[in-house]
Amino acid sequence: MTYRTSPAGEAAPAPAPRPGGTGELAGRAVARVGYGAMQLARLHDDRRAAVALLRHAIDLGVDHVDTAQFYGDGFVNDVIREALRPQDDVLVVSKVGAVSDPGGPMPLRLAQRPGELRASVEANLAALGTDRIAVVNLRRVDSGITVPVPDDQVIGLDDQLAEMAAMRDEGKIGAIGLSSVSLDVLRRALPAGVVCVQNAYSLVARDDEDLLRLCAAEGIAWVPYFPLGGALPGLAKVTDEPAVRAAAERLGCTPAQVGLAWLLHHDPRTLLIPGTADTGHLEANLAAGAITLDAETLAALDAVPSRPATAPRH
Ligand SMILES: NC(=O)c1ccc[n+]([C@@H]2O[C@H](COP(=O)([O-])OP(=O)(O)OC[C@H]3O[C@@H](n4cnc5c(N)ncnc54)[C@H](OP(=O)(O)O)[C@@H]3O)[C@@H](O)[C@H]2O)c1
Repeated sequence: MTYRTSPAGEAAPAPAPRPGGTGELAGRAVARVGYGAMQLARLHDDRRAAVALLRHAIDLGVDHVDTAQFYGDGFVNDVIREALRPQDDVLVVSKVGAVSDPGGPMPLRLAQRPGELRASVEANLAALGTDRIAVVNLRRVDSGITVPVPDDQVIGLDDQLAEMAAMRDEGKIGAIGLSSVSLDVLRRALPAGVVCVQNAYSLVARDDEDLLRLCAAEGIAWVPYFPLGGALPGLAKVTDEPAVRAAAERLGCTPAQVGLAWLLHHDPRTLLIPGTADTGHLEANLAAGAITLDAETLAALDAVPSRPATAPRH
């Protein structure tokens, strides 16, 4: 929300403090705890609840929302369009590289070709009702693979970045991010100007520590997806980890809050986009930045072994 004067001339309430403090994304200040909108798709039968949840996040100071046109086959972007007002000044980040496939064996299929990336940006623009998306992540298939990659979807990075850069030059995209990339791909993409990286990463799945360090060195925001281990069954969950549960009990907070607080502490450029369809969980997640981890707790959490963040390639 922006600070404004009410029609009666009275000062409007001060804006909510930024959850988790202030970080930087694409050259602007944002709350370090934002909101990943993917879980809103679970509320597709209750659109009003989905809009209310997102509105609540914004009213609590969230100004960074992560989305995709393929979340809920367009439902999530529709909710964002309905819930956000221009004066909220929320930085909406979307991603391209896959599209909904409602009739297919999976709800998603890859759409990695340059023309498909452009079509996905256009679909996001239309659904969000805007002529420019602040940041668009090129979601590659170099890591975090959970779907088969057909041969015709193995596309060269340079061709993809050329299309992304063209859309940035045209003003359709404010800045370029990357998702599901390897260290090598990130290095090769740096000259194109990368503002953020989204890979699967959490306290219990830290195999991408080398990418995090490169992002830190290059001033690129690290925005891990699955910060709590994701909603999919079979993946390691932060909230199941004994060291996390013990820390939560000692600190008087929830295991999810411990996991998020650890991420905030671990790297100062990290921005969080935890996903939830639950109002209580949303409020708890946004409060995680207020939790202080003492040295003993940090040592115990740092010693948690890393597990795979995603299912292996089929
Ligand atoms: N770049 C990419 O390729 C990519 C891939 C996947 C996701 N993403 C983005 O990353 C965001 C985060 O990932 P995610 O939503 O899959 O996983 P996540 O944030 O790690 O975990 C979400 C799961 O944790 C639960 N949860 C959330 N807050 C909780 C709390 N305080 N206590 C207990 N449980 C809690 C949620 O259930 P409830 O709903 O019941 O709270 C949900 O089951 C997504 O929403 C999406 O925007 C990006």
